[in-house]
Amino acid sequence: MESLLSKFTCLHCLLLLLLNATHCFSYVQTQTQTLCHADEHSFLLQFKESFTIDKSASGSPFAYSKVASWAREGDQNQSNCCSWDGVECHAESGRVIGLDLKSSCLYGSINSNSTLFRLVHLQMLDLSDNNFNSLSYLNLSLSAFSGQIPSEISKLSKLFTLDLSQNNGLELRKSNMRILVQNLTSIKQLDLGDVGIYSTVPDILVNASSLTSLNLSYCGLYREFPVGIFHLPNLEELRLYSNINLNGYFPTFNRTNSLKILDVSETNFFGELPSSIGNLHSLNYFDISYCGFDSHVPSSFGNLTQLSFLDMASFHDVSASQFLLNYLDLSHINLRGNFPRFVANLTQLTLLYLPNNSLTGEIPKSLFHLRNLEHLSLTSNYLQGEFPKSLFHLRNLEHLGLSGNNLSGLVEFDEFSNLKKLKVLGLSNNRLSVHVKSGSSATLPKFEFLKLGKCNLTEFPEFLKNQYELGSLSLSSNNIHGQIPKWLWNATRETLVNLHLRSNFLTGSLPIPPQSITSYIVSNNSYSGEVSPLFCNLNYLQVLNLANNNLSGTLPQCLGKSNSLEILHLMFNSFHGNIPPFCANKNSLKFVGLGYNQLQGKLPRSMAYCTRLEFLQIGNNQISDTFPSWLGVLPVLRGLILGSNAFHGIIGKPPTNHEFPNLCIIDLSDNLFSGMLPSKYMENWNFMKNVVAKEGSQYFEVSSNDSTNKYGNFYQYSYEMIISVKGVELRYVQTLYDLRLIDFSSNRFEGEIPASIIVSLRALQLLNLSNNTLSGQIPSSLANLTALESLDLSQNKLSGMIPGNSYQGNSGLCGELLSKKCEGSKSLRLPPPSSFEEDENAGFPLEFDWYVVLPGVVSGLIVGVVAGNTLADKKHEWFMETFSRRRKPTTARATRGHRT
Ligand SMILES: *[C@@H]1O[C@H](CO)[C@@H](O)[C@H](O)[C@H]1NC(C)=O
Ligand SMILES: *[C@@H]1O[C@H](CO)[C@@H](O)[C@H](O)[C@H]1NC(C)=O
Ligand SMILES: *[C@@H]1O[C@H](CO)[C@@H](O)[C@H](O)[C@H]1NC(C)=O
Ligand SMILES: *[C@@H]1O[C@H](CO)[C@@H](O)[C@H](O)[C@H]1NC(C)=O
Ligand SMILES: *[C@@H]1O[C@H](CO)[C@@H](O)[C@H](O)[C@H]1NC(C)=O
Ligand SMILES: *[C@@H]1O[C@H](CO)[C@@H](O)[C@H](O)[C@H]1NC(C)=O
Ligand SMILES: *[C@@H]1O[C@H](CO)[C@@H](O)[C@H](O)[C@H]1NC(C)=O
Ligand SMILES: *[C@@H]1O[C@H](CO)[C@@H](O)[C@H](O)[C@H]1NC(C)=O
Repeated sequence: MESLLSKFTCLHCLLLLLLNATHCFSYVQTQTQTLCHADEHSFLLQFKESFTIDKSASGSPFAYSKVASWAREGDQNQSNCCSWDGVECHAESGRVIGLDLKSSCLYGSINSNSTLFRLVHLQMLDLSDNNFNSLSYLNLSLSAFSGQIPSEISKLSKLFTLDLSQNNGLELRKSNMRILVQNLTSIKQLDLGDVGIYSTVPDILVNASSLTSLNLSYCGLYREFPVGIFHLPNLEELRLYSNINLNGYFPTFNRTNSLKILDVSETNFFGELPSSIGNLHSLNYFDISYCGFDSHVPSSFGNLTQLSFLDMASFHDVSASQFLLNYLDLSHINLRGNFPRFVANLTQLTLLYLPNNSLTGEIPKSLFHLRNLEHLSLTSNYLQGEFPKSLFHLRNLEHLGLSGNNLSGLVEFDEFSNLKKLKVLGLSNNRLSVHVKSGSSATLPKFEFLKLGKCNLTEFPEFLKNQYELGSLSLSSNNIHGQIPKWLWNATRETLVNLHLRSNFLTGSLPIPPQSITSYIVSNNSYSGEVSPLFCNLNYLQVLNLANNNLSGTLPQCLGKSNSLEILHLMFNSFHGNIPPFCANKNSLKFVGLGYNQLQGKLPRSMAYCTRLEFLQIGNNQISDTFPSWLGVLPVLRGLILGSNAFHGIIGKPPTNHEFPNLCIIDLSDNLFSGMLPSKYMENWNFMKNVVAKEGSQYFEVSSNDSTNKYGNFYQYSYEMIISVKGVELRYVQTLYDLRLIDFSSNRFEGEIPASIIVSLRALQLLNLSNNTLSGQIPSSLANLTALESLDLSQNKLSGMIPGNSYQGNSGLCGELLSKKCEGSKSLRLPPPSSFEEDENAGFPLEFDWYVVLPGVVSGLIVGVVAGNTLADKKHEWFMETFSRRRKPTTARATRGHRT
């Protein structure tokens, strides 16, 4: 079918052929002596036999039945189908490539099983002037048709099945959907997936009582979905996914409902999940991810006994291919309150994912009766209580994720000897104390993935000696002193992919991990000495994080030649010398953090080839260079932090109008730049003009492309920002996706603030031009920067008033310096550090220590203005408050590693 139809580029022509109309293809019949293939011989005969011959079926006076001469046996001419009337074969292969049955008095229907569709070499088909009015099956899916769906299709009123899905931009705009469906009175299966319909869903579909299957996914549908469609008595499959403007809600479902597949993901369906959902007794596939439903899950879910696929996720944590029978994925849907009770009734569950929710209370004992469980992830919730020993009854467990909760107590690690199948274990970031008896190592399961971060360990557990299959190991945030024992490298030398040992007390020279390593994170330790050039030989290394150690010396210049390195985080050490010539050969780098060292020289010009670079942080070094206008070609660069170096000179004009096309954050502060503000650059920074919401993430994150190895070596690396306000440095471990920041403070910029830049920077939230020699009036257009949250123009020679209407209509505006004080800004609270913890399924994204979450509330604009140095003393507190009023929770890092 597929290959047959892919030969037609014109759906219109094909339909005309099926509709007794004039034919579109000129056809030259050639006599040939080629021998026909036996299978095609038989297909043609069966095709012939599926019709009756009826003179009145054709209108042409020259009509005659070409198929009449087709015969099973006879002389050589008759049995060679290549010589049959209307049949053309390929001269060499003998395959049937043409069929001209125009005006052949054929009467009947073409069904899905028609042998016509088995003539896979067919290039020309002419069936015009016959009577296929009873055509009941038309499947033109996956056929690369494009353009308008011809209105003639609505004449095929006997269709049971119409499948036009997954073509190449088919549209149904002109002949609108209503006309189409009002004639399809017998339709059972209607599949318009991927057809551009761009209209409302016609409510006459409510009358399509024969409908068993309806697919309107990816159709650009909008407004209200007719709720009556849910009540169609025979409807078993309803797919509406990816129509983001389609509104809808679920009705009260009736016991008579026969829905088996219901997928409304990525639509604007909203409201409550009705408890009558429990009446959908046949439902086995249910996808309501990325919708607007309330997160309350009715207990009647426990009655959905046929369910084998449930996706309520808001993030793509788990790929669909991983689903097993009785898969329950409720990850990241903001489930609150106690553990959902209905889960314990799903006795067939083999996989239960509830990570990244806000579940509180204890893990119910009833959960441990689900003896079929193989995969259990409760990672990143607020579950509390003693570590549940009953889980050792779940003998089938292969994967157990409890990281990032509030569980407490002692874990006798040798009890895991009971779980022979366990491969993946995450206990990090609770209040657990893991106790490892010596001598238990032989009986423990062979882990592939082990996370024992913040488990009160004081040494490398000895059982690791026997863990020959370990791919991912995290022992971050323990109290491990000294050096990594040699046997660790010995055991894991062929398997180890991820090693995360951040925030311990490791000392000595930096060990070189095995060749298999892709992610090596030893930040926040006390390693000293130089980085060996042998790191350049680690051909799979993607993430190297050595930040916050006492490393020194020059950086191996060969690091610039790495083929694999994507994240290089060396901030807060004492490296000196030149920056390696990154991207000289390959350009895999996405994040380069070299800030807070003593690096010298110029920025290597090879970095103009770092076409994947998203974030460059080299602030607080001794780089002496002019403005790197040549980085303007980098297509995805979002953050450029050059502050506190010795950059100098006039920035001047950009070579083109599309330099730095993605720039959102630029910090040139505390350098020696001079001349006018680079207004021509600023006018072209389109990302400072509008913030386009991004699905899935509220932070800037650098992600791995895919997870190619079995440890799911997936990372999401957040931009780390240090924002300096009046000498107070605030360190943000995660940077909000909609943050737009320009900091040109403490340079020698002079002249006026051009009004044009203000207009261009509509989405800007932080603008710091303080401590320059800017002069003239403060532009009144500043009032147009409606997204602005912090503005600092102090220590200049500016005159005039800050435009007053910046404040107007901002009932949410508050601050230490304003008459309205901010409430709740002091109520900083520590969330579980796991908020940003890895999900065991996904491998390790980078970990961070601890966080302060400033509660996010309030709509509306907050403008903070610092207009003079007299106010400098209260800055810190005020600034925190400014951020505390943001729409979304902002995370700031507590003071570890904080340098002022
Ligand atoms: C095709 O399907 C129809 C019913 O859908 C059936 O009657 C007919 O026998 C089938 N023909 C073949 C060749 O399988
Ligand atoms: C509906 O189908 C009938 C044939 O059954 C046809 O005559 C009529 O034109 C069709 N209507 C539309 C709007 O195509
Ligand atoms: C349930 O469905 C049946 C059959 O369609 C119908 O007769 C009945 O009125 C429905 N009940 C409700 C409450 O909608
Ligand atoms: C589940 O189904 C049973 C039997 O139909 C019914 O009695 C019960 O009320 C249902 N439970 C819920 C929570 O809807
Ligand atoms: C769940 O199971 C318990 C007993 O195990 C039972 O009392 C309860 O009715 C069940 N709930 C549902 C919704 O079936
Ligand atoms: C950590 O382990 C030590 C024993 O090694 C124990 O005395 C201490 O109470 C543990 N701390 C916590 C928080 O469990
Ligand atoms: C390294 O492993 C081998 C077996 O793979 C073993 O024979 C040897 O003793 C180990 N060396 C150390 C230092 O543990
Ligand atoms: C202002 O900039 C000068 C250098 O241009 C710097 O020395 C000074 O510390 C800066 N002052 C403040 C308050 O940032």
